[in-house]
Amino acid sequence: MKAIVYKNYGPPEVLTVADVKTPTPKANEVRIRVYAAEATKADCEMRSFRYAVKWFWLPLRLAIGVFSPRNPILGGYLAGEIEALGANVQNYKVGERVFACAKLGFGAYGQFVCLPADGTIVPLPQNLSFAQAAAVPLGGLNALHFLRKARLKAGESVLINGAGGSIGNFAVQIAKTWGATVTAVDSAHKEDILRRIGAKHFIDYEREDFTKNKIRYDVIFDMVPSSSYSACMALLKPNGRYVMGNPSLLKMLRSPLASKFSNKQALFAFAGETVEELHELKEMIEAEKITPTVDNIYSMSEAVAAHYRVQTEQRVGSVVISMHEQ
Ligand SMILES: NC(=O)c1ccc[n+]([C@@H]2O[C@H](COP(=O)([O-])OP(=O)(O)OC[C@H]3O[C@@H](n4cnc5c(N)ncnc54)[C@H](OP(=O)(O)O)[C@@H]3O)[C@@H](O)[C@H]2O)c1
Repeated sequence: MKAIVYKNYGPPEVLTVADVKTPTPKANEVRIRVYAAEATKADCEMRSFRYAVKWFWLPLRLAIGVFSPRNPILGGYLAGEIEALGANVQNYKVGERVFACAKLGFGAYGQFVCLPADGTIVPLPQNLSFAQAAAVPLGGLNALHFLRKARLKAGESVLINGAGGSIGNFAVQIAKTWGATVTAVDSAHKEDILRRIGAKHFIDYEREDFTKNKIRYDVIFDMVPSSSYSACMALLKPNGRYVMGNPSLLKMLRSPLASKFSNKQALFAFAGETVEELHELKEMIEAEKITPTVDNIYSMSEAVAAHYRVQTEQRVGSVVISMHEQ
């Protein structure tokens, strides 16, 4: 099969298309023919090994490869078709159309990937193409996880900082669907789309610092590692929750104190990206409550351009790589 591979950490140019061995499913795995994979901020961070949150560096480098990446095929989120079954797999049929998370196994930048049959694999939503469906799991699962963690309720107000990214895009839609009033913070060229998908208010972070406003929120969902912890906590209403998608070590250490010494909470936790949550997203998509935003679709040979598009942040929505002609 063909795969987009990287043999060294570095700029997008380290990505090349190569012929590699097609993986063979183990007894409890399925092999998926990947039609589309999302190119994510996390893929760019893994490729370059540049992390805004510094405490990630050492444990991740040990896990991923000290001198060069141990697994040369990136990609955690995909849509495709079940193509082969391991000996013990009974819950899938060859030909089923699915969307899925590869989690820390990665491999979605290959034309075929093997995933555990009990992993996060769900039938493709009926109203989405493969490219649209590949844009769902990262943003959708993380947004759902963090907004649940925040216990966001109808009638509450939520500020989403970094609302124009993969996670923020879904967070805006899910929060709106749950009956919350959404304030989206991002750069100016994302205002139209963010208002269209559910933001009532918009703040351009390059022109205005939301922490200087007098408005208070029930929930702040923050994707931006450089935000001020104390300024965000001060903006919460009584019983407010500050949910951090990308916390620094200091913010993590400070967060338990908030609930001890105030009526506010600071929360973080990595998303489990569970199959139940992906089923829930599928239902919301089929009920037309939420929908993915695809910025652009690139071919495998355009992987370098796809990564530049993601890391320079000009995109509006998700960048998708098409892995097979359909
Ligand atoms: N905790 C977890 O489980 C988990 C899981 C996945 C991802 N993450 C992390 O969460 C973060 C968000 O992920 P993502 O995939 O949604 O990233 P993304 O698609 O790159 O979105 C980030 C958004 O934030 C905007 N932004 C940048 N600086 C900002 C600022 N100062 N104020 C407001 N908005 C700003 C960016 O827009 P412009 O640059 O155009 O301004 C972009 O729209 C990433 O750093 C990722 O590594 C965490």
